Amino acid sequence: MYKILVTRRLPGSWLDMLKQLAEVEMWDGIDAPPKSWILSKISDKDGIIVTLTEKIDKEVIDAGRELKVISTYSVGYDHIDVPYAKARGIRVTYTPEVLTDATADLIFGLMIAVSRRIVEGDRMIRSGGWNVPWYPEFMLGKEISHSTLGILGMGRIGKAVLKRAKGFDMNVIFNSRRQHDVDARYVDLDSLLSQSDFLVVTVDLNKDTYHMLDYSKLTKMKSSAFLINASRGAIINQADLVKVLSEGKIAGAALDVFEKEPLGPDDPLTKFSNVVLTPHLGSATRETREKMAEVAVKNLINCLRGESPLYEVTL
Ligand code: GLV
Ligand code: GLV
Repeated sequence: MYKILVTRRLPGSWLDMLKQLAEVEMWDGIDAPPKSWILSKISDKDGIIVTLTEKIDKEVIDAGRELKVISTYSVGYDHIDVPYAKARGIRVTYTPEVLTDATADLIFGLMIAVSRRIVEGDRMIRSGGWNVPWYPEFMLGKEISHSTLGILGMGRIGKAVLKRAKGFDMNVIFNSRRQHDVDARYVDLDSLLSQSDFLVVTVDLNKDTYHMLDYSKLTKMKSSAFLINASRGAIINQADLVKVLSEGKIAGAALDVFEKEPLGPDDPLTKFSNVVLTPHLGSATRETREKMAEVAVKNLINCLRGESPLYEVTL
């Protein structure tokens, strides 16, 4: 029987399926397992299912002497030293596609929440601040329909955001590493920044995208524009974003991801009424999280059987 390490309980019944085929050792907490736990368990395991909070670096990979596959329950794989794993002949698999719609839905939710002041309005009512009935200039926001949406990155999630934007009659521009044959206009990064009413970040995190949106880039945005990020926090220099918001250089931001998670209530980002914050919920629907479990388990099993996984990380 294969020996498998799993770093978190997963929704649905796919882990039970896996237990019929393999000897599974699982971390049962909802908090991330300490690295020492992974190191103490991994030496005889054929495969491991991890999530984005476990850093799978050279030390962990070296400790996995029997390791054949690292299956991450995520679309992002910035927490894994993929080149090192591959050099050791270990396959790395992930769970794209099944979370695309859920993530694009959340991005639209964030975009509307921040521009139409939904969270701010909710907070106002709860704190007893709604004291005057409807009047024409009360809490005006920025319209989504007919606005210019800039998409940074045109992968699966970027395309799903584009599809939704068409339903809102948005004018869509994008910038990405590669050209894409999509119904949107390609522009260079500076034009994307300066023309967008809404800038949505969908690139993945790697050494080229780390802090790619810093003070000099963020201040190229219109002062009426909103920034939306549900990809990885470190794509944006968060201290620079706080500065840009303090100086009123953009209209607001809606963020699902942060440089350091969890984000605490004392973080400077929580002080802005024009910032909407969600705790890394991009793929957090019951349907999607169960499908991610299915894909993570199938990826793992297929690799152990010498078959092709559904989704393998290729660099
Ligand atoms: C979530 O952030 C993921 O990478 O799946
Ligand atoms: C708003 O509630 C309207 O009736 O215009």
